Amino acid sequence: MNKILITGGCGYIGSHTIVDLIENGYEVLSVDDNSRSTNYLLDGIEKITGKKVKNYKVDLKDYNDTRAIFEENEDIAGIIHFAAYKAVGESVQEPLMYYENNLLSLINLLKCVQEFEVPHFVFSSSCTVYGSPDTIPVTEGSPIKKAESPYGSTKQMGEEMIMNVVKVIDAKAILLRYFNPVGSHPSGLIGELPLGKPANLVPAITQTAIGKIPSMQVWGTDYDTRDGSCIRDYIHVSDIAHAHTLALQYLIKNRNKTNCDIFNLGTGNGVTVLEAIKAFEEVSGTKLNYKVGPPREGDVVAIYANNNLARTSLNWEIRYNLKEMMKTAWAWELRIKQDEQILKNQQYLYN
Ligand code: WQD
Repeated sequence: MNKILITGGCGYIGSHTIVDLIENGYEVLSVDDNSRSTNYLLDGIEKITGKKVKNYKVDLKDYNDTRAIFEENEDIAGIIHFAAYKAVGESVQEPLMYYENNLLSLINLLKCVQEFEVPHFVFSSSCTVYGSPDTIPVTEGSPIKKAESPYGSTKQMGEEMIMNVVKVIDAKAILLRYFNPVGSHPSGLIGELPLGKPANLVPAITQTAIGKIPSMQVWGTDYDTRDGSCIRDYIHVSDIAHAHTLALQYLIKNRNKTNCDIFNLGTGNGVTVLEAIKAFEEVSGTKLNYKVGPPREGDVVAIYANNNLARTSLNWEIRYNLKEMMKTAWAWELRIKQDEQILKNQQYLYN
């Protein structure tokens, strides 16, 4: 009873979570249509853990193909659902693509949870569900504000769907609201592979530093914050990954308070964009080439987590500080430069 299905297992947080689950004794299967990934990270997982993880190259929007996975694996003890499109800007331009992909996939999975009586379901959610908070740090009880993007509304709707479904089927769920996942596994063998020009801060920093992009912009330094730039709660992806293992164990041990418990996954520390850049420059020994640009539409000025619930209920501890986040992000960027040809051969639209 320890076979876990990871959707989006070839992706950034999915691959790191697979490593943590294997290291904690779980048998793991992945389903990933590789529309925005390759098996490059599965190779990294094998190098780290010695385990070859099977990936079902299936589009979760196809119900019959999705159902076939459960037909073949009657003993799935839990699902961790990462697979979704997650680019805020793209979602504004392509709302229908986001609603169809992120919601239809979830509906198909929940149908399988019901039919095959999968007992545990962990959902990859995001602090984006809070919108622009009135008070910070945000707790799990902070008001859910109108989503700033279609991406954010797919996370809000996803949460609501899961809450309502587990009320009427014999399954338990956990919603994990990530703040800003950054960095890479300390081995340097898995990390983030952004598609095309990076929208997120840390890949933009490391790709600028390595020369993949000529320069980057800091979107606004006139905000009402200590240095004028936006505040976020950057958290190491391996800390996020371990929280998923703990969440699963929490459900398996029936320690859940409701059928759908919610946890914030953040460090509890707010860091400005300029502070993040400074930390990167210190650990990499490079001066970053950036310009100050206009504020980015939809940006929240400041948000960071109250993470007390995850720390106490899941016995979760933060293991990586900001400099270690930047150090591992930079080590990963240097590594994929070495493997650039391999990624190109895999037709990975890395850039
Ligand atoms: C962080 C800060 C930017 C790039 C989003 C989603 C969230 C999650 C992570 C999926 C902001 C600034 C960025 C750049 C910059 N997505 N920035 N120059 O917007 O907080 O969160 O991505 O899981 O759900 O909402 O992350 O990294 O894009 O931006 O100045 O080139 O860095 O303006 O203040 P964000 P981000």
